[in-house]
Amino acid sequence: ISSVQCVLYLHCNVYILSALVAAVAILPLLLKVYFPHFWSDCFNLVNVVWVVIKFAKRRIMSVLPSRQSKQQNRAGFKKARWSERRGHGCPVLFMGNEPAFVFCWLALAKLGCTAALLNTNIRAKSLLHCFNCCGAKVVITTPELGDAVSNVLPSLKELSVTVFVLTKQWNTPGMKTLVDKIEEAPDEPIPLSARSKATFHSPALYIYTSGTTGLPKPAVFNQGRLVSAMMLLSSNGVKQEDVVYINLPLYHATAFILGFIGCIDTGSSIILSRKFSASQFWNDCRKHNVTVIQYIGEVLRYLWDQVTDNHVYHRVRLAVGSGVRAEVWKEFLNRFGNIKIQEFYEITEGNVCFINYAGKTGAIGREIFILKKLLYYAFIQYDTIKDEPVRDSNGFCIEARRGETGLLVCKITKFTPFTGYARNSHQTEKKKLYNVFQKGDVYFNTGDLLKVDKDNFIYFQDCVGDTFRWKGENVSTTEVSDILTMLDFIAEANVYGVEIKGHEGRIGMAAVILKEKQQFDGTQMFNHVASYLPAYSRPRFLRIQDSLDITGTFKQMKAKLVQEGFNSAVIQDPLYFLDENKKSYVPMTQEINNLIMSGNIKL
Ligand SMILES: *[C@@H]1O[C@H](CO)[C@@H](O)[C@H](O)[C@H]1NC(C)=O
Ligand SMILES: *[C@@H]1O[C@H](CO)[C@@H](O)[C@H](O)[C@H]1NC(C)=O
Repeated sequence: ISSVQCVLYLHCNVYILSALVAAVAILPLLLKVYFPHFWSDCFNLVNVVWVVIKFAKRRIMSVLPSRQSKQQNRAGFKKARWSERRGHGCPVLFMGNEPAFVFCWLALAKLGCTAALLNTNIRAKSLLHCFNCCGAKVVITTPELGDAVSNVLPSLKELSVTVFVLTKQWNTPGMKTLVDKIEEAPDEPIPLSARSKATFHSPALYIYTSGTTGLPKPAVFNQGRLVSAMMLLSSNGVKQEDVVYINLPLYHATAFILGFIGCIDTGSSIILSRKFSASQFWNDCRKHNVTVIQYIGEVLRYLWDQVTDNHVYHRVRLAVGSGVRAEVWKEFLNRFGNIKIQEFYEITEGNVCFINYAGKTGAIGREIFILKKLLYYAFIQYDTIKDEPVRDSNGFCIEARRGETGLLVCKITKFTPFTGYARNSHQTEKKKLYNVFQKGDVYFNTGDLLKVDKDNFIYFQDCVGDTFRWKGENVSTTEVSDILTMLDFIAEANVYGVEIKGHEGRIGMAAVILKEKQQFDGTQMFNHVASYLPAYSRPRFLRIQDSLDITGTFKQMKAKLVQEGFNSAVIQDPLYFLDENKKSYVPMTQEINNLIMSGNIKL
């Protein structure tokens, strides 16, 4: 090689080298500008793979560890041995937040027993219905809920349900005490074989949910779902040293699965609060060095609304939950400092889940192309007036365009199964949508309207159809209207939720028509509603119509009613308000309206 060539060659290399160095230096910049979420997307994919590997390594399909130490578990074995000796099927836990809730569940899980968790607000007819529908023969409850159970005791006896109260002494005949029996039980370990036969698809837990229609139904969680949900906290970097604060009811999926089950994986401590209290919240966090909190939208809003102190000292670094609105999210961080908010979207009985791992304010998740291909979910156009998906001339659904609101549906496959409701194939069927994009395909209908923006972030818009959310609970409109029409003066009732300034979700309202020649009786109505419905699902407003609007498919029209709300300037019908002090439905007045708007009437 001549020296000239050599020099040229070197020059060339230097050029290439500096170009490379420049590229490497600029690359992050380019990524930041053109693909701002590149790294968090990669990180999330790695996380998903990690969860799958962890999952595959499990020897036994159960959230419980596959080794056991007799020392720690003595008390647990006693409980389990007691239940074993009785040899009964699916037991129902009807308990508030207390350590015994967790220990009873663990004991049952050791035996490979599938327990059902029941909402403690449920009473009377709904309560009985819950026993009926999961076929439970045993209920375990606590002294504070003893009265609610003893009210329906005669009917429970007819169903041959045995009631146990977690105490040593209880006087109601027909109800048994439990603590003494547990103490007498032996404490030998339960062999692993009791639960080692479980597979991915075996039921692990029932959680009652209103879902979208009818009375509460037990949604089935299979072992696979529980095991994968267990990893949500650990994949968020939660460690053994963390202290997780649970103040939501354990009978809901958020607290039970995300909080409690999640901590089985991480080994973190749990601070369990009886119930949520905005005024106690930060005190509890400080006192127990809480680092991780859970929320539903209401929780963050209440904290922001009611805790006006701007310099709250705390060590919370992570908040995991769902349903926080963008404006509350921002204000919350402004006031309470640098907390990572990990918003996710999941449906108790559903087969799809999103995580907003990129931390985009207001979003519930992010679409990744690869995952979309694996999960087969879609957002389809929805007609909110007719209350059904839009279909093209061939009868197939149409995907919503980017930026357009659509109904989330997810294909039911082996990997994304829909476990449905226990012993209720009718309700299970109602959550399925057929012939969505092809003849014969089946999708799970989430009943939620969402939107994907141009940057692939997913936003929650509304629930459709027969549910609305109020105070963190789902209210099933058909359940409420069934109960209203039990009154002898009501012919028909159309129940819906209306928005109200400064509150998450929607407050209950009903449009009713009276039977011919019958008078409306506000006090009778109040008493009826109060004895059959939990406070959050009682209609707070009522309008009396001459006739109800019905759609072509005989569905009651709600869109217009929802829009009119309880605005007496628009509504000509007689309008009533549920007055908790007077224990009656009273005529709505401008004064009441003002008191509500100014926040002087607590809703
Ligand atoms: C919280 O942390 C402080 C400082 O590290 C420690 O002194 C205190 O004992 C901890 N409190 C609890 C309840 O663990
Ligand atoms: C409300 O219903 C949704 C399904 O639409 C479910 O995912 C969620 O867990 C329910 N919430 C409660 C508090 O039951």
